[in-house]
Amino acid sequence: MSSDAPDAVDSADVAAAADAPEDEPEANDSAVEEAAKHVPSGGPPLRVEGLVKRFGGVTAVDDASFEVESGSLTGLIGPNGAGKSTTFNCITGVHEPTAGTVYFEGEDITGLKPHQIARKGLVRTFQIARELSEMTVLENLMLAPQGQLGESAIRAVTPGLRGAVVEEETALRERAWETLEFFEIDHLAHEHAGNLSGGQRKLLEMARALMTDPEMVLLDEPLAGVNPTLEEKLLDRIHDLRADGYTFLLVEHDMDVIMNNCERVIVMHQGSVLAEGTGDEIRNDERVIEAYLGEDL
Ligand SMILES: Nc1ncnc2c1ncn2[C@@H]1O[C@H](COP(=O)(O)OP(=O)(O)OP(=O)(O)O)[C@@H](O)[C@H]1O
Ligand SMILES: [Mg+2]
Repeated sequence: MSSDAPDAVDSADVAAAADAPEDEPEANDSAVEEAAKHVPSGGPPLRVEGLVKRFGGVTAVDDASFEVESGSLTGLIGPNGAGKSTTFNCITGVHEPTAGTVYFEGEDITGLKPHQIARKGLVRTFQIARELSEMTVLENLMLAPQGQLGESAIRAVTPGLRGAVVEEETALRERAWETLEFFEIDHLAHEHAGNLSGGQRKLLEMARALMTDPEMVLLDEPLAGVNPTLEEKLLDRIHDLRADGYTFLLVEHDMDVIMNNCERVIVMHQGSVLAEGTGDEIRNDERVIEAYLGEDL
């Protein structure tokens, strides 16, 4: 069962993006590359302590504690229903945890709303991509920095502030184009998102997350249903961004992907953290082998 129901989108935001003129990008300095030059702060950017999430009688996350090292690409694995997506939902404010604390960059962010957490630099992608199918790829990106356009909409009707709005939207549009180019989907900019292949949707989902200029990105099965060529492209992009200082936490069922790309792996089972370590340590951990009941690790 998925807990990734799409959030409602503010109609004013949709209108603001849909009405925007469609300029071509400027092919100079990459705004994305600029934004990507994050300097890791040293301490673990993400720390989760005693996280619990109950849905009625179901305990989806049961006293999970872990941290993610700055600048790392860390894997989060576990059998179906282990609580990985729910953990992401609790970390990023989609769900309010029943108990426990989430720290980002040392700050308690438990219970904040997703857009507040995104503004602090922590975003996630969804297991089921949440693109708005009736809108173009470019429009989807323009909407991504939640709240930004909402503020613009208010300022747009405030005398004297119109210029600032235009400037902000021009910058946003430029960033959208840079992000599309970075993911090599700029040729799809004017395509309705609903017409994209599954793999292209995953790229769009990543691009949307990147639009908010995050420090850390939680990726929930970004490669599921993605063909091998696109998979390689996505992984390359993740490594590029990581080299620029981004921190990633990656949920992925394909063990080869986890073992080949993640320097640390956290294993969840029945809502709790069962084991942590390098890929090799995890692969040979008896508790992990048992949790997967003989599946290939
Ligand atoms: N909104 C919800 N309401 C009720 N139960 C839920 C909800 N979301 C998740 N659950 C339950 O919580 C448990 C953990 O689900 P979750 O989606 O977090 O697992 P997962 O590790 O992401 O699994 P998968 O690998 O299949 O994506 C499951 O038993 C699931 O049915
Ligand atoms: Mg999941």
